[in-house]
Amino acid sequence: MTTTSGPLLITGATLADGTRTDLYLAEGRLADPASAPAGVERLDADGLLALPGLVDPHTHLRQPGREDAETVASGTAAAARGGFTCVHAMANTTPVTDTAEAAEYVAALGEREGHCEVRVVGAVTKGLDGEELAELGMMADSAAGVRLFSDDGRCVGDSLLMRRALTYVKAFDGVIAQHSQDVSLAGPGACCHESEWSGRLGLPGWPSQAESIIIARDVQLAELTGSRIHVCHVSTAEGVDVIRWAKARGIRVTAEVTPHHLLLDTSLVAGYDTTFKVNPPLRTSEHLEAVREALADGTIDMVGTDHAPHARQDKDHPFDVALPGMLGLEQALAVVMEVMVGTGRMDWPTLVERMSTAPARLGQVPGQGRPLAAGGPANLVLVDPAARATVDASASRSRSRNNPYDGRDLPDPVVATFWKGRRTYAR
Ligand code: DOR
Repeated sequence: MTTTSGPLLITGATLADGTRTDLYLAEGRLADPASAPAGVERLDADGLLALPGLVDPHTHLRQPGREDAETVASGTAAAARGGFTCVHAMANTTPVTDTAEAAEYVAALGEREGHCEVRVVGAVTKGLDGEELAELGMMADSAAGVRLFSDDGRCVGDSLLMRRALTYVKAFDGVIAQHSQDVSLAGPGACCHESEWSGRLGLPGWPSQAESIIIARDVQLAELTGSRIHVCHVSTAEGVDVIRWAKARGIRVTAEVTPHHLLLDTSLVAGYDTTFKVNPPLRTSEHLEAVREALADGTIDMVGTDHAPHARQDKDHPFDVALPGMLGLEQALAVVMEVMVGTGRMDWPTLVERMSTAPARLGQVPGQGRPLAAGGPANLVLVDPAARATVDASASRSRSRNNPYDGRDLPDPVVATFWKGRRTYAR
């Protein structure tokens, strides 16, 4: 599902390391620019950066089951708009992706409808119930080739079950990606960060320790089993500390942070605007600083959008009742540029590592996250580092409108995205 597919010569682009180059896209791959025939379509990329296509380790596409909120077609179109050439579709659909058949169904939808590569994330437990392991091995062996498993939105609370899941996936080098939330400590009604703000607003909050307690348990289970654990959407300073400790010990842990946890703080819930209700919740500025520093120094390996579209009827409720989640794909690069690159915390090669290479490695996606070199797949994004715009939620390619950046002045970097050599987005 793309717009054009002919050969294309991109001239005068700048790579992340500052090298100027031409890029020749032919038959889905990058070829030697010297081999481009005279008269081939050209695109002048003077002043633009050419980066490997972005890879999102954490996307909610909502299909099957909630096509009113998002579909594979609309979610991947939003991904292409954001510079992504691959997303990992989370398992909390209806029905849940907890069998080989369900995984193959989502993979086939991606093949047929996707504007980027769709990799399937399988559930850890049947029905996300946290009681019995899902068909992990069969999902791995299926045509979907699942390598990443998560009950995202729900935390696998039972330690023995978590140990078994980690042990099981080790056989095929799979990874359990955990939504770290101690549900008994967070409390059933918790809907924001426990802080001065939750007290003032009369909203039940959950403390950062409800995240770090689970991360601490899981990294120790990863050590016990020798398996790999991935921590989804880290949002707390305490969580960062535990991951730093685990990495220093040689435990096989990776972690991601969302764009919204890098930029937005808990004071935004003051207006009871449910766009800002998300799980884990927006935290205070000290936590924002901690996750920024961790992303810069590599304690947090990558950015994961947690793009969570919700239909209006699920957000138009009192704050404690509305569903948690916010859009992320279209502004992810803009936010990382604003918070990390624009402030000098991160250079472009590191951004490529955090938003393309590391997530491709996590998901074991061979054609993604590769340097832009002749012979490699033509998955790339052209970026204007100077462009800015006011975000307009109504202009989104997503089917949903719960965009937390609506009305904000942010970088507007994505000029064009190419997946397998075909243009999937052009400004
Ligand atoms: O806010 C969230 N929304 N956090 C999650 O972990 C799940 C997601 C969703 O599926 O809406």
